[in-house]
Amino acid sequence: MSTETTPAYSPGLAGVIAGETKICSVDPNSGLLYRGYDIHEMASQASFEEVAYLLINGELPDGKQLAQFTRQIAAERTLPHPVIEMLRLLPRSTHPMDMLRTGVSMLGSFDKELNDYSHGANLHKAIRLIARVSTLVTDGWRISQSEEPLPERPDLTQAGNFFYKLNGAVPQDWQIRMLDTIFILYADHEFNASTFAARVTASTLADMYAAVTSACATLKGPLHGGANEESMKMLEEIGTPDRAEAWLKKKLAAKDKIMGFGHRVYKKGDSRVPVMREIGRDLGQRTGKEQWIPICEKLEEVMDREKHLCANVDLYAAPVFWMLGFAPELNTPLFAASRVAGWCAHVVEQHDNNRLIRPRSLYTGPPARPYHGVSSDGAASKRR
Ligand code: COA
Repeated sequence: MSTETTPAYSPGLAGVIAGETKICSVDPNSGLLYRGYDIHEMASQASFEEVAYLLINGELPDGKQLAQFTRQIAAERTLPHPVIEMLRLLPRSTHPMDMLRTGVSMLGSFDKELNDYSHGANLHKAIRLIARVSTLVTDGWRISQSEEPLPERPDLTQAGNFFYKLNGAVPQDWQIRMLDTIFILYADHEFNASTFAARVTASTLADMYAAVTSACATLKGPLHGGANEESMKMLEEIGTPDRAEAWLKKKLAAKDKIMGFGHRVYKKGDSRVPVMREIGRDLGQRTGKEQWIPICEKLEEVMDREKHLCANVDLYAAPVFWMLGFAPELNTPLFAASRVAGWCAHVVEQHDNNRLIRPRSLYTGPPARPYHGVSSDGAASKRR
């Protein structure tokens, strides 16, 4: 008689506690803390570099530590030449997320500390990855647009370099501040799908690049990071606020999934939405593109009434990125350029206190049965 007890089954691991973390806490009632600090305070005051330092090191940096961390990131931004050459070999139609995933995987071969899983070596790799994920996106995009990659500007921040390396123009301070805030909002979200994928990979004692490659692959899907690209397609299809309600009702009647709505954890609203909505309103005024946020608001109103579902951060990120001048295909890579800080922090935490992540499955296939295949009764050896 089997002594094995059957563990509780939760489809999609919903509600399952799959591990411990000191990095980030998501409150289903709309709260989000990074290492105990409220995201809203950080979003309005901190820099992305400060938040990235906090996530991977556990405490906020002092002025000297922040300056050194910023210099370290700047020193690691340039990609190894063969990685640039690889980006040139990809078909021009390659999606930027596929370029990124392939690029991260290749970067591992150029890191001398690849197979050193000590805490110190992992922190060095985290700095390289935070610097270079961003460059893979900007250089990869320029190459796909038949333009040459640009050298980085060490005087600009991570957010400033993202703009500069993409289009060669030094952004205005308010643009840098906005992207900083967006990067802070996206930097971590406990055991979301891509971070969990990274932790599963790291838990086999695979290296940090392998884990971040898994994370990039997982982020791409439209139920996760890919939602911010899909949301922009939806908003463009709707076009004007007065068309939003009819459009949405038709989609709901057809039982379609509406991008930018719903969340596995948040049931009373995504803690990041109010900040992203405000950025969107501000951008609408600055750019004169004032239709996007009212469309989102109308969708929110109807979705709440019809399905009691809340918007998630990707609904508002889509028009925000569009108004900041980014092509929609860059929406998910922009998310990755920020979330890489969280991914790396989780890999450091996983390696520092590792246990293989290996759940069980509930078998729903046929019961045990005798084998009567073409090779049974020695038929295979007779045929030979
Ligand atoms: N549009 C329409 N209906 C939705 C919905 C959406 N975006 N999100 C959830 N629902 C509905 C489901 O159809 C389901 O209804 P049912 O019980 O009548 O079948 C119910 O709400 C529960 O949804 P479910 O898909 O089981 O929730 P989940 O926790 O597994 O999924 C998401 C969470 C995020 C994957 C899901 O909400 C979704 O697909 N959202 C759109 C993609 C997106 O914006 N992703 C970014 C997340 S930050």
